[in-house]
Amino acid sequence: MSTLQDKIADRSVRVAVIGLGYVGLPLAAAFAKADFCTTGIDVNHGKVDAVNAGHSYIPDVPDDDLATHVRSGRLAATSDYDVVGEVDAAFICVPTPYDAQRAPDLSYIEAASKSIRPRLQPGQLIVLQSTTYPGTTEEIVQPILEESGLKAGVDFHLAFSPERIDPGNKQWSAYNTPKVVGGLTPACTRLAADLLRQMGAPVHPVSSTRAAELTKLLENTFRAVNIALVNELALLAERMDIDFWEVVDAAKTKPFGFMPFYPGPGVGGHCIPIDPYYLSWKAREYDYYAEFIELAGEVNQAMTYHVVDLVSRALSLHGKPLSGARVLVLGVAFKRDIDDARNSPAERVIELLLSRGAQVAYHDPYVPSFRVGGNVFHREPVPLESVELTEEELAAADCVVIVTDHRSVDYERVVRHAKLVVDTRNTTAGVSGYGEKIVRLGAPLLL
Ligand SMILES: NC(=O)c1ccc[n+]([C@@H]2O[C@H](COP(=O)([O-])OP(=O)(O)OC[C@H]3O[C@@H](n4cnc5c(N)ncnc54)[C@H](O)[C@@H]3O)[C@@H](O)[C@H]2O)c1
Repeated sequence: MSTLQDKIADRSVRVAVIGLGYVGLPLAAAFAKADFCTTGIDVNHGKVDAVNAGHSYIPDVPDDDLATHVRSGRLAATSDYDVVGEVDAAFICVPTPYDAQRAPDLSYIEAASKSIRPRLQPGQLIVLQSTTYPGTTEEIVQPILEESGLKAGVDFHLAFSPERIDPGNKQWSAYNTPKVVGGLTPACTRLAADLLRQMGAPVHPVSSTRAAELTKLLENTFRAVNIALVNELALLAERMDIDFWEVVDAAKTKPFGFMPFYPGPGVGGHCIPIDPYYLSWKAREYDYYAEFIELAGEVNQAMTYHVVDLVSRALSLHGKPLSGARVLVLGVAFKRDIDDARNSPAERVIELLLSRGAQVAYHDPYVPSFRVGGNVFHREPVPLESVELTEEELAAADCVVIVTDHRSVDYERVVRHAKLVVDTRNTTAGVSGYGEKIVRLGAPLLL
């Protein structure tokens, strides 16, 4: 019987990808593209049906590619975990959100591990990909899997390899972004690394699962802290009557030792606003307070309040109170050119606007409906639908707030028809002749 190592070498490894979301579907497609027989497992039957019909719901996975893999028999999806008993390797790509108090919610990882446990086979490789705090693979996944009677690192292989996918990024994808891999034992690391190399990704092995887990959190904390830094300086620049965007553009001409980050309405998505808190939560177990993380979170969260303050100030300079004003929010996805609105700063901005009495509508070419509220910021849940970006809609708004700068929107047209624009992304910088009605975050208030 051939070993896992042999099967990796001749690409006869059968792979399962558990959780077919923004991370799992591109990974499953990448394995299928590399000629591995791949099965996606998801508890969401709608996603399973879509994959089997060759329909992609993730913009980074083109329909054509998915359909080709499904037709060739290299990719299928199911909600039945029994397939785990038939594969050689399984990758866990389930969500790792936090709760209302920003404590890690590992219930999805636990559920997936418990579903694998009764089907676990000797010689299998299990790789956790979900972003989480250092220790999760060994403290949560390993004990659950070992309840099967099989021992990790001896009877089966266990590793952690973080996902670094950047939705919407055309240059770096699941195929070419280097993968960091840390196994429970050197053999676990080698097998996971070899398999990922065969999938096509460059691999950087590290000495442990915990080093791999911390690597991902370092990357996301680095972003959170640097975004907080420019947000803080942008607020200062507003008071000093300096255009901070011009300052970042100037600083980035330095060819070494500087990397540009830009201010904005806050951070969103499934990574930057969440992952650092996984680390600060875990740090407390070690009598350690990760103050940079908490401070960055505080500064970045305050930006949504600042945006609402800018809207309120801009409106009052136009003789209009925020209460009763009609506000059109442009863009609710958490960043440009994607359809993912999870934890978007727009959510809090809209909740704060509503709780201060504004009437709010939104337009987002990628997000047809959006739900806010049902929390301490706005008790009532409010379902919203994207309105068309007509001249009438723009003109009827007392203020248009650009929260996400999708490239497909014509911002000159927006400014031309709007009465007042609050721009949190500097997307109107190139629009001239309307200075008196544009308020840019991080720039002097010209009104
Ligand atoms: N989205 C990103 O850009 C990104 C980037 C890097 C890392 N990550 C991390 O990757 C992980 C997954 O994120 P995502 O954005 O793909 O989430 P997602 O919500 O898009 O997808 C997760 C999928 O898992 C499925 N699922 C939940 N419980 C399951 C279970 N018990 N068994 C099988 N399927 C189950 C869900 O139905 C969903 O389809 C998270 O830890 C996230 O932090 C995300």
